[in-house]
Amino acid sequence: MATQQPSRRAFTGLLTAGAGLLALSACSPASNTPSTAAADTPTGSPSPTVTATSASPAVTPTDVAATPLPSATPSSAAAPQFSLTDPTSPWVVVNKHRPLNPQNFVPADLVQPNIRLAVSGEASLVNSTTAAAAEKMFGAAAAEGVIMTLASGYRSYTTQVATYNGYVASTGQAAADRASARPGHSEHQTGWAFDIGDGGGACSFQPCFAEQPAAVWAKANASKFGFVVRYPWMFHETTGYFYESWHLRYVGVEAATDMAARGIATLEEYFGLEAAPDYL
Ligand code: DAL
Ligand code: ZN
Repeated sequence: MATQQPSRRAFTGLLTAGAGLLALSACSPASNTPSTAAADTPTGSPSPTVTATSASPAVTPTDVAATPLPSATPSSAAAPQFSLTDPTSPWVVVNKHRPLNPQNFVPADLVQPNIRLAVSGEASLVNSTTAAAAEKMFGAAAAEGVIMTLASGYRSYTTQVATYNGYVASTGQAAADRASARPGHSEHQTGWAFDIGDGGGACSFQPCFAEQPAAVWAKANASKFGFVVRYPWMFHETTGYFYESWHLRYVGVEAATDMAARGIATLEEYFGLEAAPDYL
C-alpha cells in the first residue's frame, strides 16, 4: 500500500468531528432520480467479459485474489488478479448482492488527503491509495481551472446506519434503497470511494451536479487517475442505484482506463458479475 504522506493528518482524533454532518450528508438524495436533462447516457455497449490487465502499483502481490475472477481473464499471465471480495482490494465489488466481509470492516490506512475538503472528521478520510490518487486528480483538475472538493469519503458501518435510516425516515424504504446503501453494503465503508463537490453547493448530491464542471471533468478524466463513476446514468438495474455523478471509486488506472476505452460502464459488467438491482 502507498505510504502515508506527511501532509495528511492521521485518522486518530478525526472520527468524531464529522459524525453529525455525515448523518445528513447522504451519498445521494431522494431527488436523485435519473434526469432526462443529463447528457450522460453511456455510448459504449457494456461487455459481459473482460480482459483486464491490472497492475495497480498500489497493490502488492499479497493482495492477489484468492477468488478467481468469474469471467475476467487477464491478457497476461503475469498480471495480478485482485480479489473481488477482500475489502482491502482495489477491485472489491460491493453492491446489494455483495455485502462487505467482514461487515464491520474498517480500513487500516485511512488518511486525510491533501485536497480541498468540504467535510471534516471521518468523512474527510479515504484509504491511503485512494488519497494519493485523489491528490493527483484534484491537482490535475485545478490545473485546468476546475474546482473539486471532497464532499464525503469514508463512512463507518455505524455512520451508514444513521445515513440510511435518515433516508428511510424522509423518503421511505423503496426510495432510500435507490439512493443510499444499507449498512454493510456501502463502498464508502471500504475507503475506496468518495463523493465530490465543486465548492458551490447548489447542486451537491443533486442530478444537476452532472452538468457542473467538476462532474463533467471527472467523467472525462477520472479514469486516468484510477477512478470510475461507480453509479452511471441509466445503469440502476445493474448497480442498484440511480445516477450519482459525484460518486467516484478507485479501481486502479489500468482497470479504469480499460473500462473507459471499452465503454464498459459498471464494475458488475467489467468483472462478469450478476446485476444487483435489489437486495436478495
Ligand atoms: N449512495 C451510495 C450507494 C452509498 O450509500 O454508498
Ligand atoms: Zn458516494
